[in-house]
Amino acid sequence: MPRLAIVGLLALQSALAQHPTFYKDVLPVLQQHCQACHRPGEPGPMPLLDYAGTKPYAQAISQAVGSRIMPPWFADPAIGHFANDRSLSPSDIQTIVDWAKAGAPAGDPKDAPKPVKWVEGWTIGKPELIFEVPTAFNVPASGVIPYQYVIVPTHFTKDTWIHLAEVRAGDRAHTHHIVVSLRDPGSTWLAGEPVGVPFTLKPHEGMSGAPGEFLAGYGPGAMPEMLAPGQAKLVKAGSDLVFQLHYTTNGQEGCDRSRVGFILSHEAPRQRVVMLAAANIRFMIPPGDPDYEVNARITLHSESSLISLLPHMHLRGKSFEFRAVFPDGHTETLLRVPHYTYSWQLSYYLAKPLRLPPGTTIECTAHFDNSADNPMNPDPSKAVRFGAQSWDEMMIGYFEVATDLKNGLRELLLPGQGNPAAHTM
Ligand code: HEC
Repeated sequence: MPRLAIVGLLALQSALAQHPTFYKDVLPVLQQHCQACHRPGEPGPMPLLDYAGTKPYAQAISQAVGSRIMPPWFADPAIGHFANDRSLSPSDIQTIVDWAKAGAPAGDPKDAPKPVKWVEGWTIGKPELIFEVPTAFNVPASGVIPYQYVIVPTHFTKDTWIHLAEVRAGDRAHTHHIVVSLRDPGSTWLAGEPVGVPFTLKPHEGMSGAPGEFLAGYGPGAMPEMLAPGQAKLVKAGSDLVFQLHYTTNGQEGCDRSRVGFILSHEAPRQRVVMLAAANIRFMIPPGDPDYEVNARITLHSESSLISLLPHMHLRGKSFEFRAVFPDGHTETLLRVPHYTYSWQLSYYLAKPLRLPPGTTIECTAHFDNSADNPMNPDPSKAVRFGAQSWDEMMIGYFEVATDLKNGLRELLLPGQGNPAAHTM
């Protein structure tokens, strides 16, 4: 063979070798960063499990990762380290973009990583206990549906430590979010409301009578929380579960019966996990304001360690920041979300728990865009206050701490320093 042809052949071979292939280069990225959502029964619209299912979407995938729309992740990378950070490295993004550009070649199936063994249905594994809303809710084809509440008794005869909890919507297409809170025996929260059937709140009813502790939630992009071994949430004997269900209409009728599944602590738990919130419910965002600031803070009075953060605003939410102010006066920024969107409700799980000595204050700063330039804004001419529906606003910095088994909301917070929004989303 002439020398030139050999050189040409070698160049061609190495150019081919540089194309990423599905089995060798792309599938490992999909397994690690995409399949949690993009598999049957999960919220991603198409499964990305194999070549046949992925190839038709090569261009869409390339675009989604190139513009960092996928995977959904909003934390400023300069601040903090998070265990559930699914964001792609620049080299992963390049791999996918190059692969799509090269015509999405399959490559050699022998190069494929082992398939991930996803558990069908429940992400936490098979629950030992499942509580289902006893009556189905019929979702109409159109209109706005006020939040529905359903009280479901646990009938627990002894205090029960829940290691993992997962909330599953029966009808995902119509379910925006679900929050399952606890109502301790003897609590006056929602007193007089019926048990087992959906009801709506009277004005201010949800805010009074010491709302219960947040147990578990389901929302856009949220994955069930995987607590560390030895950590658990306490459900006291005789407690009720309170489901808060937010349905949205989409032109078709639906029917939902949602469930929560539990995996119990089998060894004696070592740490109790409690959801707290720094919330501001007294703001008023002026009409048209493009950058209105709202602050909230809450001080903790027992030793604990911070394990997760969940910023929550509605459609005018623009940015959100969490800070810890320690008793010695120094401040640490914990999470910065520079471009918040209501479309995704993500929790950020700290890679390493952060010790919060007694006297630590968690501070939150939010900015809202109530101008006409905010494409999500339902009405820039309106002054906006705190409220439950999505055209109202919220300003809540949810966070979870792991603490001594004896500590609950009462021990962690000062008397009178309520947790007014612990169950509202
Ligand atoms: C947390 C869950 C989640 C993860 C993780 C995730 N996705 Fe998605 N993805 C979704 C959901 C939900 C939608 C639909 C979004 C919508 O309709 O606004 C979506 C939409 C998409 C779309 C647009 C589909 C279309 O209609 O064209 C693409 C492409 C996509 N995802 C690719 C990926 C890739 C690639 C990854 C991993 C690198 C990934 N996604 C990770 C949940 C996820």
